[in-house]
Amino acid sequence: MIANTYMSYSSSEMLDYSRPILVFGRDGQVGRALQICLNDLKLPAVFLGRADCDLTCESSIVDVLNRYRPQVIINAAAYTAVDKAEVERDLAFAINAKAPELMARYIAHVAHGILVHYSTDYVFADTKQDTYLETDPVGPIEHLNVYGQSKLAGEQRIKDVFNLTHDSGNPSGNDKFSRYFILRTSWVYGDGANFIRMILRLASERDQLEVVSDQVGVPTSAQWLAETCVQVAGSRATSGIYHAVPDGQTSWHGLAVFAMEIATSCGEGFEVKSKNILPILATDYIAQARRPYNSRLSNAKLKKALSEMAFTSQYPHWQEQVEAYVKEHASNYLKASQILKN
Ligand SMILES: NC(=O)c1ccc[n+]([C@@H]2O[C@H](COP(=O)([O-])OP(=O)(O)OC[C@H]3O[C@@H](n4cnc5c(N)ncnc54)[C@H](OP(=O)(O)O)[C@@H]3O)[C@@H](O)[C@H]2O)c1
Repeated sequence: MIANTYMSYSSSEMLDYSRPILVFGRDGQVGRALQICLNDLKLPAVFLGRADCDLTCESSIVDVLNRYRPQVIINAAAYTAVDKAEVERDLAFAINAKAPELMARYIAHVAHGILVHYSTDYVFADTKQDTYLETDPVGPIEHLNVYGQSKLAGEQRIKDVFNLTHDSGNPSGNDKFSRYFILRTSWVYGDGANFIRMILRLASERDQLEVVSDQVGVPTSAQWLAETCVQVAGSRATSGIYHAVPDGQTSWHGLAVFAMEIATSCGEGFEVKSKNILPILATDYIAQARRPYNSRLSNAKLKKALSEMAFTSQYPHWQEQVEAYVKEHASNYLKASQILKN
């Protein structure tokens, strides 16, 4: 559905599709979803993995930008090892801050095109009980884990690059070229390692699980993030940060229980019943990096922007997305366990 409506909207009036869209992070959860989405739309795109362009190497980034001369860059690559980042600070900053800055400079100064970059709820550190707006203050920096600090630095560098450009002749940031979109999201699941897959795997190995119940957020489908990114990139929306999460909210425990209820409704094969998923406190779960208790992002700004685009579709609730995802993956697990039994 998105494919057809997007195609009818993304006319060459907005973008020159003779130059390919350059996607970094090909092999990540969002990167894989972008491959499906852009290929379905038959949009010319080049997908780069680590072997094609190491984002820790500035000359490697400059080389690919000069080679492909993209008008649109989608950066789905990131250093996402949240705990390991505590001891790999420089690496996290190189990938999450310096690399996006180079992409921003290229788009703002050379291509005069569009940069879409993903960021995270980890730029907030429990300063609010309610959902965070894009205008809420981030940090405080000393309460963010290193991953959150590096992603925040990436956001700030992108904004700085575009603001400097706009200061010299394009103050609105709202014309049809040279724009950036930072899509902040949370609790992503797709084709790759993620919380839901971990729960499904553990549930087929154990008869009881303990899951944190006092951290809340919004589970977000990588497929939807890819579709949303393509819509936003092809729109006239204003440069800036957008919180890209579905409706609703839950805790990790709530997500695990919901996922298992859906999974067990697909058939036998899981040892854990949802009543055997026990709530624990975050303080009982030992991790190197501190995580926020409140990861809830308000999606009102994105919803409004999408509603002003050439088409509107039903804005999703996290439960419907997780239900579809679990049904697909639970049946894979059940098929695999059936094969093992036979
Ligand atoms: N996952 C979440 O829960 C979550 C939550 C909030 C925000 N986000 C943000 O959403 C975006 C997409 O996340 P995701 O879940 O799709 O991440 P992911 O699955 O971890 O994928 C990240 C990709 O970045 C690539 N990468 C890492 N270091 C690289 C380097 N030096 N050079 C080139 N590529 C490199 C990785 O390559 P390899 O495959 O070779 O390792 C991987 O394919 C990121 O910006 C992330 O910060 C994610």
